[in-house]
Amino acid sequence: MIVKTQEDIENLRISGKILSDVLKEIIQLVKPGVTSAELDLVAEKGIRDRGGVPAFLNYKPKGAAFPYPAALCVTINDEVAHGIPSEDRVIKEGDIVSLDLGVSYNGYVTDSALACIAGEGDEDSKRLLEASREALNVAVAALKAGAHAEDAGAEVEIIAKKYNVAIVEDLGGHGVGQSVHEKPYISNVGTKGKGEILPAGMVLAIEPHLTLGKGDIVLEDDQWTYSTADGSRAAHFEQTIMLTENGCEILTPLL
Ligand code: MF3
Ligand code: CO
Repeated sequence: MIVKTQEDIENLRISGKILSDVLKEIIQLVKPGVTSAELDLVAEKGIRDRGGVPAFLNYKPKGAAFPYPAALCVTINDEVAHGIPSEDRVIKEGDIVSLDLGVSYNGYVTDSALACIAGEGDEDSKRLLEASREALNVAVAALKAGAHAEDAGAEVEIIAKKYNVAIVEDLGGHGVGQSVHEKPYISNVGTKGKGEILPAGMVLAIEPHLTLGKGDIVLEDDQWTYSTADGSRAAHFEQTIMLTENGCEILTPLL
């Protein structure tokens, strides 16, 4: 969406604050022995207690086999995106866990994700997390009113090279604000100065997905979870931002 009124921005800020607060709460709970279903329960309660509605629950994008059945996406190790929480999925020592959450407040939608390691991780996992966080930060820093849609992806490419990790080219950022996925699509690869010009007030979810192997993904039998084709581990960080004349306002400040 494009923010037009004070009411728009105020509602988005509240939506993003609820989302950030809940994400920070559940990231603390990621430990060996916890199930992804437990994290989902706490996330849903956290959102509702703060006056929001889980934006992913029952969301059905075009082409999806059935609506998304949870508030939270929990993607572990070789999973890349949209992992459905389950009581059978127990987090183990050293797992890379990415938590992706959406909040709707008064109809204003924000989308954000954060990754961490359960317990002690290995050096590769730590490198992947550092790369993912940095990729998100530089992509966000590249955007402002008048920037081109590919400016963000051009920056993600530089960071992926620096850390020797791969970019999942089939997944990317997107407009957000009135529904979970809006136009435009923001690729995680690109050429600076190319793509459409982004206007002031535009609300975007910026979300690089990086892996320790190759960037190809496959859709699992559950029809939602994307995993790496080569079994390599992946991580995901995401923020909702609003473009301003000088840069952007981060609506979902992370840790
Ligand atoms: N951040 C994820 C994305 O943009 C959110 C997916 S919501 C789901 O794809 F409901 F589709 F899982
Ligand atoms: Co998103």
